[in-house]
Amino acid sequence: MNTFDENDQRNHPRPEASDFSQMVEGMLSRRQLLGAAGASMALFFGGQGMANAATATRVGPRIGFTPLAANGLDTVTVPAGYQWRVLASWGDVILQGGTAFDPTTRGTAASQALSVGDNNDGMSFFSLGKDHAVIAVNNEYANYEYLFPNGRCSSLDDARKAQAAHGVSVFEVRRTAGVWTLQPHARLNRRITANTPMRLSGPAAGSALLKTMADPTGATALGTFNNCANGRTPWGTYLTCEENFNGYFGSAESVPDNAAYKRYGISAKGAGLNWYPFDERFDLAKNPNEPNRFGWVVEIDPMDPTSTPIKRTALGRIKHENAEVVVNADGHVVVYMGDDEKGEHIYKFVSAKKFDPKNPQANRDLLDEGTVYVARYATVEGQAQGEGEWLELTHGKHGLTAEAGFKDQAEVLVHMRLAATVVGATTMDRPEWVAAHPTQAQVYVTLTNNSDRGLKPNQAPNGPNPRVKNVYGQIVRWTPTGADHTSHTFTWDIFALAGNPVLYKDAYAGSANITPDNMFNSPDGLAFDRDGRLWIQTDGDYSNTKEFAGMGNNQMLCANPATGEIKRFLVGPVGCEITGMAFAPDQKTMFVGIQHPGEKLTPSHFPHGGDAVPRSSIIAISRRDGGVVGA
Ligand code: FEO
Ligand code: CA
Ligand code: CA
Repeated sequence: MNTFDENDQRNHPRPEASDFSQMVEGMLSRRQLLGAAGASMALFFGGQGMANAATATRVGPRIGFTPLAANGLDTVTVPAGYQWRVLASWGDVILQGGTAFDPTTRGTAASQALSVGDNNDGMSFFSLGKDHAVIAVNNEYANYEYLFPNGRCSSLDDARKAQAAHGVSVFEVRRTAGVWTLQPHARLNRRITANTPMRLSGPAAGSALLKTMADPTGATALGTFNNCANGRTPWGTYLTCEENFNGYFGSAESVPDNAAYKRYGISAKGAGLNWYPFDERFDLAKNPNEPNRFGWVVEIDPMDPTSTPIKRTALGRIKHENAEVVVNADGHVVVYMGDDEKGEHIYKFVSAKKFDPKNPQANRDLLDEGTVYVARYATVEGQAQGEGEWLELTHGKHGLTAEAGFKDQAEVLVHMRLAATVVGATTMDRPEWVAAHPTQAQVYVTLTNNSDRGLKPNQAPNGPNPRVKNVYGQIVRWTPTGADHTSHTFTWDIFALAGNPVLYKDAYAGSANITPDNMFNSPDGLAFDRDGRLWIQTDGDYSNTKEFAGMGNNQMLCANPATGEIKRFLVGPVGCEITGMAFAPDQKTMFVGIQHPGEKLTPSHFPHGGDAVPRSSIIAISRRDGGVVGA
């Protein structure tokens, strides 16, 4: 979530429950689906899809905990036999010279740059030994209502403080007596902010679209921000993904009004973040190409705090959610990526060269050269499963020509959303995280919600996005043909259609694996553990009323991909989103992100209680008996 995300369903009027039932009339309903598609839909609503049929005899991973009931408490709740503690919070010192979090001032630009950033999101765990590791975690954005005592960014100092609260935090952790703790001032600790020098590499580096007054080479950029989710490469680097970068730009003057600015939501009015009045880098009239230097996947070496982060332009420029990296059986590296906006798309990158586990140095630039594709789902009305294809986004192919507005491959990559439309990609319900099964060629994506579905001309309901005014979201999965992630075709089905089976009996009740006991809305974070448990995190409506009644605060669930079973594992505090997860290699500790407790001044004092300022935090969850989390 993002406070200024124009896609946020909470910024749109929600239908009343009664309107909602009416609205459903004439659309996809459970009965209609069953009638229309017969046996295949019966499979779908039985929680067993086509991709699953091949594994129907499997029982899947053990999910051994007793599921939690929904709640609206201002704390984290976990199943009986589990415990949690805070590992790190916004403002905790990680670098020499930092000062302890000051609840009155909430810090300065200088102190913030030496401390954990705000709004922790995607994260990865890199082992340094049995009881020693480094964690890299995104700091997606800042909650101005807490960052600034007056709630506003109203000076250059304020802008610098906000910029320092963004980016990535890297810090070492150690385990003593079973407990992992943050190591302040450790050797690998690092803050990467909206002002850290970076290198642009790959096919778009040096292109005219990336050149600015400050950087006539188009090959160096300052900083990263709105870092949503993440990826982890098999060669030990961290990928941080730039999402809603557009809202940081604006201007008091008039700015270009072109198709690319429109498609990426870049406009003079900005999103109220107010950097451009104080920092002219963000003033579109002065630096019209600066936003082209954001919206990339950035690669960071967590083992070298002096290394320069690299923006990998070969993966394309979108509002990136995460970057799920798979090494294909033949050695090619495949990166799956969602573009989180209503009606946007799902992409994959396939490296030109192969991963060489014996020669780590040779893998360093694998993400600079390759082919990027966008997904098209073959849609048969009423079907919740089908086939699909990957459409290549290469200059000169599929109409990606100069006449269509793409001079070269750099333009295809910088304006990848426009290219996806030219080739006929399927519009999706806000693609969030993509997660690949650890041992089977099967890939899952959360489609969080889409209030525009069925209401905008280019967003008619389609197979994987079947519901008009989709407030609940769904999880779709696909199986590449021949278990080959480089294949141009796949089959897909819907793993879970979130809904409210207490209120509705139609498609808004959700699929058969959604029950009154596990219902949730807006799936977002998604990852597998090593045993193949699928962990789902939510960023949804936590009002617990109307169509969201019975769902409680944002939460985390655990699913069995073989059976479709879903159990609620964790409920977060008031006003939070649950996002970001990482596992210690022994899976005895799971790290989970509690983002923006108390956002928009909802009544939270997490994690310290009393009258404390709420602070985004990473928690460490373990079993009291020392066993594997989830098992
Ligand atoms: Fe940053 Fe799409 O969530
Ligand atoms: Ca979200
Ligand atoms: Ca997200």
